Amino acid sequence: MDNINAFDMRLRRKYIVVVVFSSAFALFVIWKLYQIQTDMKDLYCAKVLIQNKELLHLSHYQLTLLEHMYKENINRSLPIIYAITPTYYRLVQKAELTRLSQVLRLVENFHWIIVEDSDTKTDLVTGLLNESHLLYTHLAAKTPPFEKLKDKDPRWKKHRGVEQRNTGLKWLRENLELNKDRGIVYFLDDDNTYSVKLFEEMRKIKKVGVWPVGLVGGFNAEAPEIDPKTGKVIGYKTGWRSDRPFAIDMAGFGINLDLILSKHDAQFSYKMAKGFQESEFLSYFITKDELEPLADNCTKVYVWHTRTETPSVKGYIPGLEV
Ligand SMILES: *[C@@H]1O[C@H](CO)[C@@H](O)[C@H](O)[C@H]1NC(C)=O
Ligand SMILES: *[C@@H]1O[C@H](CO)[C@@H](O)[C@H](O)[C@H]1NC(C)=O
Ligand SMILES: *[C@@H]1O[C@H](CO)[C@@H](O)[C@H](O)[C@H]1NC(C)=O
Repeated sequence: MDNINAFDMRLRRKYIVVVVFSSAFALFVIWKLYQIQTDMKDLYCAKVLIQNKELLHLSHYQLTLLEHMYKENINRSLPIIYAITPTYYRLVQKAELTRLSQVLRLVENFHWIIVEDSDTKTDLVTGLLNESHLLYTHLAAKTPPFEKLKDKDPRWKKHRGVEQRNTGLKWLRENLELNKDRGIVYFLDDDNTYSVKLFEEMRKIKKVGVWPVGLVGGFNAEAPEIDPKTGKVIGYKTGWRSDRPFAIDMAGFGINLDLILSKHDAQFSYKMAKGFQESEFLSYFITKDELEPLADNCTKVYVWHTRTETPSVKGYIPGLEV
C-alpha cells in the first residue's frame, strides 16, 4: 500500500513539474510572439498598404510617405518639416543641391519640396533627388516672362522664387489635410547654409517661429529684437527698413502647416514691393506680438545667407557633368 502511494506521489510530482514547465514555456512563446508582433505591426501595415497600392488608389504622395515609414525614416507622431526650395539651372546648381541634400539627410522627419524654375523637371535634379534617400516631391514651375521694363534689370530678377514658392504652397494645400497632417513649413533657399539645430528649433513652432539669420543685409546678422521682460518680439535689428511689419528674411521664419492650410489665399505675389515679400506674406497669418522667438530667444545663429561665387569658367571639357 505504502509503495503504491509513494509511486503515486512521485508520478504526481513529475506531472506537476511537466505541467509547470510546459506552461512557462508556452507563456514565454506567447510573450515573445506578442513582442515581435508589436514591433512588426506598423511595418507590416505599411508593407500591406504598399502591396495593395493599386487597389487602394493611393496617391503618389501617400505611397512615398508609406515607403519612408516602412524604412522608418518618418515618425508620424512628430511634426514633419515641409521645406519648399526654388531652384534654377546655373553652373553651381548641382554642387549646391548636393551640399544641401546631404545635410538634409541628417534631419529627422523631413519632406523636401523642390520646385524647378523650368518648364519641365530636369534630368540633373531628378537624378540627384533619386539618389538623395530623402522623402521629396519634385515639381517644376517656370517664372513667366514679363513685359520689358525701361530698367536694364529684368523684373523677374527682383522676384526670384515667387512662382516656385507658390507652386510648393499649392502642393501642400492639395495633398495635405487640415487637422490630420501635422507639420511646419519652411522656405529653404538652395544657396544658404543650414545647421541641423535649426530644424530641431522649428519643431517647437505653434504658429510662426522666428530666429536670427547670419550674413545678411550688409550686417553680420539680422535678428528680431526681444523684450527681455516679456520674451516677445518688439522690433527688428536689421540693416534695411527695420520699420517693415515683419523685417525678417525668408530664411528667418517657419510657419505651422495648420496656418498654411487654413489661409488658402496666402501666397507670394509679383505686386509685392521688393524686400516686402516676407513681410506681406506673414501679415496674412499673424501679428508681431504673436511671433515665437526661437534659437535661445533669438541669440543664436543657425542659418547663414551664404552665396556661392559664380565661377569664371574659361574652358570646357566634354563628357563631364558638373
Ligand atoms: C516617434 O516620436 C515619438 C515622440 O517624440 C517617440 O516617443 C517615439 O519613440 C518615436 N518613434 C520612433 C520609432 O522613433
Ligand atoms: C534611381 O537610382 C537607382 C539606384 O539608386 C537607379 O537604379 C535608377 O535607375 C535611378 N532612377 C533614375 C530615374 O535616375
Ligand atoms: C527667453 O526669455 C524669457 C523672458 O525673458 C525667459 O523667461 C526664458 O527663460 C528665455 N529662454 C531662453 C531659452 O533663454
